[in-house]
Amino acid sequence: MRILLYRNDGIVEPWARDFEAALPEAETVPWREGQPVERCDYAVIWAPTPALLEQLAQVKAIFLMGAGVDALLKFGDALPEVPIVRLGDAGMAEQMVEYVVHAVLRYFRRFDEYERQARDGIWEALTPHVKSEFTVGVLGLGKLGVPVLRALRQLGFPVRGWSRTPKDLPGVECYAGMETLDAFLSGTRVLVSLLPLTPETNNLLDRAHLSRLPAGAYLINVARGAQVAEPDLLALIRAGHIAGVTLDVFRNEPLPAPHPFWNEPRITITPHVSALTLREDAVRQIVHKIGLLERGETVADVVDRTRGY
Ligand code: NAP
Ligand code: GLV
Repeated sequence: MRILLYRNDGIVEPWARDFEAALPEAETVPWREGQPVERCDYAVIWAPTPALLEQLAQVKAIFLMGAGVDALLKFGDALPEVPIVRLGDAGMAEQMVEYVVHAVLRYFRRFDEYERQARDGIWEALTPHVKSEFTVGVLGLGKLGVPVLRALRQLGFPVRGWSRTPKDLPGVECYAGMETLDAFLSGTRVLVSLLPLTPETNNLLDRAHLSRLPAGAYLINVARGAQVAEPDLLALIRAGHIAGVTLDVFRNEPLPAPHPFWNEPRITITPHVSALTLREDAVRQIVHKIGLLERGETVADVVDRTRGY
C-alpha cells in the first residue's frame, strides 16, 4: 500500500515515520510541488495545491490532516471524484473545550477588565456577572461544538446551541435553521462559533446578526475567520455593543500587520491554535479508517460536498 503525504508547511517526515510504524505494510510517498505524482492508494494531505489535486483521481480516498474542509472544497469542480475524509475530533475536542472554557471564564470573572485595570495600576473590585444571566450560545453542534457545550453546562452556565438540522441534547436549548437564528442570538451573552465555513456561513456574523446579541455580549470565534464581517464587528465593539472578543481565526492568516484588530484592546488574538492537529491521534484515526475502507466498510467523517462540510 502506498500513501502519498503532502502538507503546505512541507513537514511530512514525522507523518511518514508514524504511518510506517502504525501500518508496516505501507510505503509513504512525500510529494513536493513540481514532482509528478506516483501511483498511490491513499493521499493524506493538508492545504493542497491545484497541481496536486489534479493528479489524485486515482486514489481510493483523500484524508485531510485537519477538521475543516473549506480549504479543499474551494477547488469545486477541480476536486477529484474520490471520497474526502476529514478528521473527526482526533484530540481536537479536548483542546477546543480548554480554549473556549478559558475564554468564557475570563469574561465571566471579568479577568479581561482586571487585566486592563492592572496595567493602569487600578485596584478596584467590579460587580460580578450573574451566571444565570450569562448564557453561552454555540453555533455548530458537531464533533467540537457538543463537547464545548457539555463542559460549559457542567460549570453551571445556561447553554444553547444552533445547528442546521434539529438536535436534542440534554440540558441544552437547541435551535435549528436560519429562521431560528435571531431568537438564538437575542438570548446569547457569549457567542461561540464552531461552524464550518460554507457559502451559508460566510459572513454570517455581520452587523445585522451581531446586533441581535444583547448589549455587552462577547464573541469567541474558533471556527473560520470569514464567518465574521470584520468591519461590522469593529464598529459594534467601538459602539460598546460588543464588550469583548476572542479570535483564533481570521479571514486572512497570518493576520496582516496593519490590521485594526491588533490595536483594539477589546480583541484577544491567538494564531489559529485553539485545536491543533495532534499527529499521533490523527495517524491512529486515519490508519483505522484505511483499515475499514480496505475491508469495504463505511467510515465516519466523509465530507458531503453538497452540504459543504
Ligand atoms: P462538524 O462535526 O461537521 O459540525 C458542524 C456543525 O455545524 C454541525 O452541527 C452542523 O449542523 C452545523 N452547521 C453547518 N452548517 C450550518 C448552517 N448553515 N447552519 C447551522 N448549522 C450549521 O464540525 P466540527 O468537527 O465540529 O468542526 C467545526 C469547525 O471548526 C470546522 O469546520 C473548522 O472550520 C473549525 N476548526 C477550527 C480549529 C481551530 O484550530 N481554530 C480546529 C478544528 C476545527 P448539523 O449537525 O445539522 O449538520
Ligand atoms: C484547523 O483549523 C482544522 O480545521 O483542523
